[in-house]
Amino acid sequence: MGHWKEIVLRGAVIPIQQLAMFREQVAVLRGTFSNEDRMRHELVRFGGMLHENGFVAATDGNLSVRLDDGRVMITPTGFSKGMMDAKDMVVVDLAGKKLKGSHNASSEAEMHLAIYQERRDVNAVVHAHPCTATAFACSGIALEEPICAEVVMTLGKIPLAPYATTGTPELTTNIRPFIRDHQAILLANHGVVTYAEDLLSAYLKMEAVEHFAKVTLAARQVGAPQVLNDMQLEALELARQRYVNRRPAKGAQTAVPLGFSLSQLARRN
Ligand code: 13P
Repeated sequence: MGHWKEIVLRGAVIPIQQLAMFREQVAVLRGTFSNEDRMRHELVRFGGMLHENGFVAATDGNLSVRLDDGRVMITPTGFSKGMMDAKDMVVVDLAGKKLKGSHNASSEAEMHLAIYQERRDVNAVVHAHPCTATAFACSGIALEEPICAEVVMTLGKIPLAPYATTGTPELTTNIRPFIRDHQAILLANHGVVTYAEDLLSAYLKMEAVEHFAKVTLAARQVGAPQVLNDMQLEALELARQRYVNRRPAKGAQTAVPLGFSLSQLARRN
């Protein structure tokens, strides 16, 4: 563990993350820990997980959450997502105007805001550059083939948005058509964006996209990936509905259609 992650207190080496959790628990007990405070810590925590899993390098990536009253809390621009502090976060309105924070908001705030504008059910957005999924995005290949039952049930198709320069309005224009019917989008020659009802779910979708990209790559190397047929997809849709209904109410409210148009899928097996 690097030095920046630890402090020495009265001779004891304490990981910063543990200390932050302790401070958080004390504040919760005292009733002085607001939802906004909690979100600041959550962004630090999931930024750290993106970094630890190698989904970002250097200052790549950004994360945000929807607060109340149309406000959005987003990571600051130019920071390593593994070395952020709760106080570094920036609060903006839905038009991107800075409301709070001593740093500038992520250069890709506009992309996050477009997702919140299009999807009222979404409360968190994660953008990263995980190696294998980004390799597909750099090769102009969408992850749309239904070859893994689990991915069909949880993520559906992962489309590829056309290339645009990072941080420009064109990037937002290019992803907008995909936002409504998907939960994850590959950004050509750039990376991946995922979104969900909360930060944990948006983060887990990023893990799932990268894992699916690895499986797809391996399946292509092993031989010819076998695409599920219409009947199998219909059965999976029923299985998905059963699965969603078994989960707590929150999951049931946010069920998103699979995104596979059965009639459009060529029968390959
Ligand atoms: P920010 O540091 O401005 O959020 O940008 C990181 C990034 O991933 C650019 O693609």
